[in-house]
Amino acid sequence: MKIDTSKVEYKKLGIDIIPILLAIQEEAFEHAKDVNPDFLRRNTYDTLAVCFEEPSLVLGAFYENEIIAFGILYAAGKTDENLAKDIDGVKDITENANVKLTIVRPNFRGNGLQASIITKLEEHAKACGFKYLSSTVSPFNPWSQANLKKCNFTVHKILKKYGGLERILFVKEI
Ligand SMILES: CC(C)(COP(=O)(O)OP(=O)(O)OC[C@H]1O[C@@H](n2cnc3c(N)ncnc32)[C@H](O)[C@@H]1OP(=O)(O)O)[C@@H](O)C(=O)NCCC(=O)NCCS
Repeated sequence: MKIDTSKVEYKKLGIDIIPILLAIQEEAFEHAKDVNPDFLRRNTYDTLAVCFEEPSLVLGAFYENEIIAFGILYAAGKTDENLAKDIDGVKDITENANVKLTIVRPNFRGNGLQASIITKLEEHAKACGFKYLSSTVSPFNPWSQANLKKCNFTVHKILKKYGGLERILFVKEI
């Protein structure tokens, strides 16, 4: 459904929201029965919980007081989750933050919300001093690929991640 995007409000979310984010994630899988299930890595309570500590940011998009989308910027520090480990030429991987996940609820797709959320995550990352943003996208996810390109990310390489799944690594210097 097309909505008046000027009425969408963006709010930083707290950790109590996790059960709702997991439900939205399941709804996305349910809605993608015809898509290769590898299009998205399934997050758990624990893989989301680490994203609520600053400078990471979990951002919700609300329309008429209902959560319709969310996005996660994850500052993974020196852990293996930091996608900068896969970027050639980065000396200090802590200068990178991962654009980890965006989900727009099925009824609200087609309003450019993923690109809006990524833009807001980038503003936050810039303000926090990060120099790179990176994101992995499945080859079965043309919508996310298009939105990352729209946000001026470029394809850095194609690699195997998360136990052998093919992923396109997108990077942007900010
Ligand atoms: C990827 C995603 C966030 C994009 O949502 P969005 O920001 O609403 O997408 P856009 O506004 O760019 O949509 C552009 C067009 O593609 C269509 N589209 C977007 N996502 C689609 C999907 N999953 N399946 C089919 N069509 C889709 C839109 O309806 C729109 O069509 P229109 O131009 O005819 O109106 C959304 O599809 C989603 O939440 N998918 C499931 C979770 C996921 O894959 N997240 C990304 C992980 S990196």
